[in-house]
Amino acid sequence: MPTASAIPVPLEVYRFQPGVDAKPSYRRYELELSPHTPVLSALLKVRAEVDPTLSLRYSCRSAICGSCAMRINSKSRLACETPVGPEIERHGRIVVEPMANQPVIRDLVVDQASFWKEYERIEPHLKPDPLHPMPEGRPNPMTPAEVERFHDTPRCIACAACYSACPAVAADPAFPGPMALAKLYRFVVDPRDGAHQDRLVRIQTEGLWLCLRCHLCTEACPKDVRPSERIRDLKEMAIAAQGATEHGSRHAVGFKTNIRAAGTLNESRLVRQTFGVVGMLPQLPHGLAIWRKKPEVAKRPRPIEGADELEKIYEALDPEEPR
Ligand code: FES
Repeated sequence: MPTASAIPVPLEVYRFQPGVDAKPSYRRYELELSPHTPVLSALLKVRAEVDPTLSLRYSCRSAICGSCAMRINSKSRLACETPVGPEIERHGRIVVEPMANQPVIRDLVVDQASFWKEYERIEPHLKPDPLHPMPEGRPNPMTPAEVERFHDTPRCIACAACYSACPAVAADPAFPGPMALAKLYRFVVDPRDGAHQDRLVRIQTEGLWLCLRCHLCTEACPKDVRPSERIRDLKEMAIAAQGATEHGSRHAVGFKTNIRAAGTLNESRLVRQTFGVVGMLPQLPHGLAIWRKKPEVAKRPRPIEGADELEKIYEALDPEEPR
């Protein structure tokens, strides 16, 4: 029975059974619900009272297990902690779709094999340092300051909302995804881990630099793990550990020094800084096409007004670094 404060909730739910349906469709269900009702409860009501064939994953209904992640009005999030009221207020309806970047098994259930494979690939377990064994009888020899360095990464519930929201995962299967990298960070900063250098060196060539810095993972994360910030930390630590050794890190370091020179980007120089002179050769056809449309890219940019103020920022950030 609808309560006094119930509102109309039009739900449009993605339905698809690969191998049976020719293509996905959206089925519309009209419900009357309290605005506080979670989207998950709305879907369960549909399944219990209207359409028992609707498939979805859930378990705890308390934002703990991470199994109910899906796209709600285009945003990847937990259905059990997304109330219907604000969605209806904002969009006038609720469109529910399965998570992106993972193939659909049926309706709202996706195959998470690639997500878990990336997690396995970063070896998410402590590799104790044989030269510094943990003291006996003191299982957690970490100071509060060392624990602080984890930031909020231990809060991750592996819901895959970040993986679903990530355009780098969509663009390149070599990208491990935000969750795997946030978990990797957690082991890299763990002082008990003996493999943190190896982990940093390996990840430089195993997808770290494919991150697009869009921060959509941080926006999607229901536990405020802020994966994009931890990916940034990993990049900085990887350069500190090994130097800028491949295209991604050379691009990042080149960008920083490049801007410092004139306060604006010298694009042709940045290509050289990223690929080196020989490595630039395969880029030539692409560069020529850009130059025809925008010849100014080949010119050395004039220093911007107030470039000396910019230099003060660089000096304040890193007094040791030569110009
Ligand atoms: S059902 Fe467990 S997080 Fe939503």
